[in-house]
Amino acid sequence: MKLEQKTTVRLYEGDCIKGMMEHIPDSSIDIIVTSPPYNLGIKYNSYDDQKDWQEYLDWTIEWATQASRKLKDDGSLFLNIGGSLKAPLLPHVVLNLLADEHKLFHLQNSIHWIKSIALPDKKDGPERQRGHYKPINSDRFVNDCHEHIFHLTKGGDTKLDRKAIGVPYADKSNIGRWGHTGGDDLKCRGNVWFIPYKTINRRADDRPHPATFPDALVEHCIKLHGKNGSSVVMDPFLGIGHAAYAAISCGVKEFIGFEIDPVYMSAVRDELTERGNRYICGAVSPT
Ligand SMILES: C[S@@+](CC[C@H](N)C(=O)[O-])C[C@H]1O[C@@H](n2cnc3c(N)ncnc32)[C@H](O)[C@@H]1O
Repeated sequence: MKLEQKTTVRLYEGDCIKGMMEHIPDSSIDIIVTSPPYNLGIKYNSYDDQKDWQEYLDWTIEWATQASRKLKDDGSLFLNIGGSLKAPLLPHVVLNLLADEHKLFHLQNSIHWIKSIALPDKKDGPERQRGHYKPINSDRFVNDCHEHIFHLTKGGDTKLDRKAIGVPYADKSNIGRWGHTGGDDLKCRGNVWFIPYKTINRRADDRPHPATFPDALVEHCIKLHGKNGSSVVMDPFLGIGHAAYAAISCGVKEFIGFEIDPVYMSAVRDELTERGNRYICGAVSPT
């Protein structure tokens, strides 16, 4: 049986900077989960991901300034960003720009999204690689199996619901031993999240976009921020919509997504329709 959709979904095709200025009231957003383009030359359908470096950094400040304006004082921006062999410092340069030079946000938590990891199947068993990554053929570099999720807030003191993504204790005797458990069999997950991509057979059909994050990553962020039934969630760089699907599955009050590419936005509308979800479309005035 399909549950009734609690989330109002608003989709805007167009530039998110303009769109946020035109459509989003200041201090109205609880949670932003987003992954902007990284300027690494990714082949998007239409967006040029190889801008002049300074132009890219200036643009980063522009969208982040709007994001900061739209976020409530106790809101959370979860910024997913990864580096590459060509630009290994990129995540740190962007973080420094936003949190230090421009003082738009505090770095409240630094989370590592692990896409793939070698672990034993069972205690003392042989290790096996889990999850997926893009292999690097090199005698200098190891494969890059993680990206950053910077949890950015305005004051550095946003209250979180750590147990909403808590994990059960391996040794149950700890539940009674430590007062801080409150008797719950859940402890804080920490800042290393193993969230593999789903295995796909055909990229063109199953994941028609070159740089996505999994729904589960967004769900972790939304749940960790907490107060989900009353939350307004936004993704200014929606791609093919994973933040929207996660927001709906978390039952947030409202989700707002911007995407500049009509092909990707059309894929989001098709997928929502296929899932039986309702949405409202708005327009951003042309640049
Ligand atoms: C890293 S992808 C996001 C993918 C998304 N997280 C997903 O899982 O599908 C970045 C997206 O930003 C879009 N984009 C680039 N510039 C934009 C802008 N000014 N406004 C809105 N979207 C933009 C690109 O077309 C691309 O789809």
